[in-house]
Amino acid sequence: MRVRILGAGIVGLSVADELIRRGHDVTVVDPAPGSGASYAAAGMLSPAGEAWYGEESLTRLCLASLALWPGFAARLGVPVHTRGTLLAGVDAGDVQQVERQLAVLDLAGVSHERLGRRDLLAREPGLGRVAGGAFLAEDHSVDPRAVVSALLDRVGDRVGLDTDSFVPHESGSTSGSVGRAAGAARRRRVETNTVADVTVIATGARLPDPYSSLIRPVRGDVVRVRTQEPVERTVRAWAHGEQIYVVPRIDSDEVVIGATTEERDGPLLPTVEGVWRLLDSARRVVSALDRAAVVEVTSRDRPGTADNLPLVGPTHEPGVVLAAGAYRNGVLLAPLIAQLVADHVETGSVEPAVDPRRFRMKEDG
Ligand code: GLY
Repeated sequence: MRVRILGAGIVGLSVADELIRRGHDVTVVDPAPGSGASYAAAGMLSPAGEAWYGEESLTRLCLASLALWPGFAARLGVPVHTRGTLLAGVDAGDVQQVERQLAVLDLAGVSHERLGRRDLLAREPGLGRVAGGAFLAEDHSVDPRAVVSALLDRVGDRVGLDTDSFVPHESGSTSGSVGRAAGAARRRRVETNTVADVTVIATGARLPDPYSSLIRPVRGDVVRVRTQEPVERTVRAWAHGEQIYVVPRIDSDEVVIGATTEERDGPLLPTVEGVWRLLDSARRVVSALDRAAVVEVTSRDRPGTADNLPLVGPTHEPGVVLAAGAYRNGVLLAPLIAQLVADHVETGSVEPAVDPRRFRMKEDG
């Protein structure tokens, strides 16, 4: 099949890689490959840490994709950080949040180990004022920038910097690390005409019409720091009601602190309040972060959907397929979305939970 993929973020590139592996003729277009949400992402492969009430289907998909990651990462030659994840709460209310999360995991049949303050500190001596938590042995992480770079190496000259299907984000800012303009699909009908049998739309938080209304951008600010005292493993914490994560890189002094979750879009610039809240919470949870050097602050939009489930599969337009709406789990879900899209292209199969046709699109009437 001749397949044209709009969007060279981690999802679009993973779809491209899978289709090329299966022998299809693939082109990818994006004016700024890897500069959208993939560029901000911390890279948690964290089905248990992200599990919540009412999201059983999402947890099932996340667990299925986690199982694909060892093979996917080996193929790309990127390491997976496999030291698990700590959940931690700072005050009594925060520990209640941890308990709620563990109850969700019990319902989903996902194992965990409840830990008191002393046990938490034994696992991670750099923790600060934590009162209790848990260990999630199967929640890991990768460096999404390394993944995108490896995918770009593999997909190579099939990526075109087509500016016709895309325009820069409304940001207007191009200075420093904050200003890498994210590619965003123009809100107009996607060209499905020409050389492709199938067009796959993987343009992140902005889809072209008639699909634009299926996605809402959910802003996340993320801070990257360098420290001589990094945590050993990902720490996901509640700190006086604020939810944060601290994600170390393998063999590196980089630590990612994330993320705000804001129901807004607009210019891609972090806010003072967002960054202050992140850093204030992070330094309560990991005291050594006080001595870390801030090296980057990044703001990007997550592609949110109305039910928090992705949009993967056919639309009402023949030959137009979505690989979109991965919301908080784009990195984790990338290999599963790639498989689902490739299976659909080859056999017409559809995973019902993520079928885009569960929603009415603008022109459905
Ligand atoms: N996956 C974490 C986030 O979206 O912030």
